[in-house]
Parts: sequence; C-alpha cells; structure tokens
Amino acid sequence: MTQPSAQSIEQLTQQATQELDRINDLESLDQWRISYLGRRGSLTNVLRGLSQLDLEQRRELGALGNQSKNLLDERLAQKTQEIDQAQQVQAFARDRIDVTMLGRPTPIGRLHPTTQIVKEITDAFVSMGFSIVEGPEVEWDHYNFEMLNIPEGHPARDMWNSMWIDYRNEAGQQPMLLRTHTSPMQARVMENTQPPIRVVVPGKCYRYEATDATHEWHFYQIEGLAVDEGITFADLKGTLYEFARRLFGEERKVRFRCDYFPFVEPGVDMSIDCFACQGGDNRCRICRGSGWIEIMGAGMVHPKVLASVGYDTEKYTGFAFGIGPERVAMLKYGIDDIRHFYTNDLRFLRQF
Ligand code: PHE
Repeated sequence: MTQPSAQSIEQLTQQATQELDRINDLESLDQWRISYLGRRGSLTNVLRGLSQLDLEQRRELGALGNQSKNLLDERLAQKTQEIDQAQQVQAFARDRIDVTMLGRPTPIGRLHPTTQIVKEITDAFVSMGFSIVEGPEVEWDHYNFEMLNIPEGHPARDMWNSMWIDYRNEAGQQPMLLRTHTSPMQARVMENTQPPIRVVVPGKCYRYEATDATHEWHFYQIEGLAVDEGITFADLKGTLYEFARRLFGEERKVRFRCDYFPFVEPGVDMSIDCFACQGGDNRCRICRGSGWIEIMGAGMVHPKVLASVGYDTEKYTGFAFGIGPERVAMLKYGIDDIRHFYTNDLRFLRQF
C-alpha cells in the first residue's frame, strides 16, 4: 500500500473524472465504479491507507479524500442518469410510430366460383320468368326415386350410386339418402303447387363415386321445371336455346339428342357447339374434336310423374332439365379438374 499524498489523491480524481467523461454505456460505467470506488478500487485503497498516517496528515488528507469520494459518487450518479436517459431516447426512436407506413391489407372475400356460376345460370332463368326454390339435401327414397318413375328394383337406379342414410320413419319403411340429383324437387314442387309452374332449383347433390377429374362425390345441380297447359317440346328447345346463348354467347348453336331418364319422355341431352374450336380441332381441350359439348339432360315430364302428383295428364304437360354448374364453369373457364372446386386452394379460388 502506497502512502497517500495530496498530489496522488488529486491525480487520481482527475484521472477518474477524465475517464468518466468518455464513458457512455452502463457496463463500462460499472467497471469504472469498481476500479475507483469498489472494495478494491484505487480511491478506496487510498482512503484505507489514511489510517497509517499521523493525525495531522490524516485530518488534512482525509478531508481531501472524502471530497474526492463525494465528487466521484456524485459524478457517477449523474452519469448513470445521463446514460439512462440517452437509452430511453434511443428506445423511443426505435419504437416510434411511422404514420406513413402502409396499413396491413384486410383480405376481402369473394363468392365461390360455383356460387358465381349458379347465380349466373339462375339469373338467366329468372329473367325468363322462372322463380328459385330450394329443397332438402337429405331426401326420402320416395322423392329421389319412387315419384320419378324409378321404383325399387328398377335398373335405372343404377344410374345413380347413392349414399344411404341409416334412418327410417315411424312406419319403418322409408329409406333416406343424400339426394343424387335435384329432380326430387320436381315432385315436391308439383305436390305443393298447381300449374302454371316455372321454377329452377339450385342445390347440392351427392353420389357414391370414386372421384376423378370429372367426377366429384358432391356437386351442384340446377333443376328446371315448367308445367302448364299446352307446353310442348318446342318450349323446351326455345327456353334452353335462349339460356345457352345468354351464358355462352349469342352465336351459340344447340343440339338435342335422344337420351334416357326415367322421369322424362322423350328425354334428351343438350349440347352447345364448341366455342373454343368450333369443331375440327382434334386436340381441342373442351370438345375433343367433336365440335359439341354436352351441358345438360332434359325432357318432357313423364306422364307417370304428372299423374303421381295428381295432375290431369290430359290437361297439363311440362318440361324439365338438369344442369351441372361445375361442368358449365369448367367449360366456360377452361378448368381441367372438377376437384379444384372443393379443395379450398386459394390460388384456384382467387382467379374467379
Ligand atoms: N336428374 C338428372 C341427372 O341427375 C338430370 C335431368 C334432370 C334429366 C331433369 C332430365 C330432366 O342426371
């Protein structure tokens, strides 16, 4: 331990304050405190050495040493505050709100492509005087088949692979299923209304189906039904032709070919001429060179169906049709796989 002197105390004080001036972070400040004012700090050492001096010197240097200690304590407190403040200012600068920054975009939803096409199709029919009705997706066998001239054991049942529901009514007789088409609504509407009838029925249907690019186990249909006195096949053709032109363009041609559905007679499938290649392109993605694309099944309501709802078949005739909106959307927008509609991939859905 060196003998303290007035000079050494002054020197030490000066050195300490000079060093302190250069410090601007709390860590260095703490090191500084330890090296001068800590238990083994240089000023602490000096003060401790005072005890060896004689009384006169001790009094003189003691006062000086205390002064020095007070000064350094004070400067330390000051410096601590300074650094604290500077750090706060920095933190504010870091966190400050940039009012010019763009807000986060709120995603805006849109209608599902199927909903859009269903709306487009039903709008076309509404403008021709049809109204829209909806029916149950879980349906009695009675409406899905029986009332449509498809009795139990009839081979036509094989046209639809059904998903049966394990439920029977009190009589224990009526099997239920997820409707395989919207046609049961033909019978339901007729049961509840008297002609004239003009309705379209959009809705979901289900079939027990192995899915592939053109088959889904659930899909939409839009049923159409018109019943009145004197309705003929010409009305069917005229109405559906007008629909095709509204949806696919003024210059569309249509073709009707015989087809079989148990609840219509005669039954047809309707095609429109290919709007992509007008026929002739064997590689055409849409018609595959045939020039025609099938868009729906249709026909004159079978007299048996009219009779089963109690209509006078001498007085009333009607036509019915069934459209697959996903198929229409696929044709219209060049979608190559029906499964895209219900896999909820936003990259697909955003395009519509
Ligand atoms: N329901 C028939 C089907 O699902 C389509 C159809 C409806 C045919 C109305 C004729 C009349 O295949």
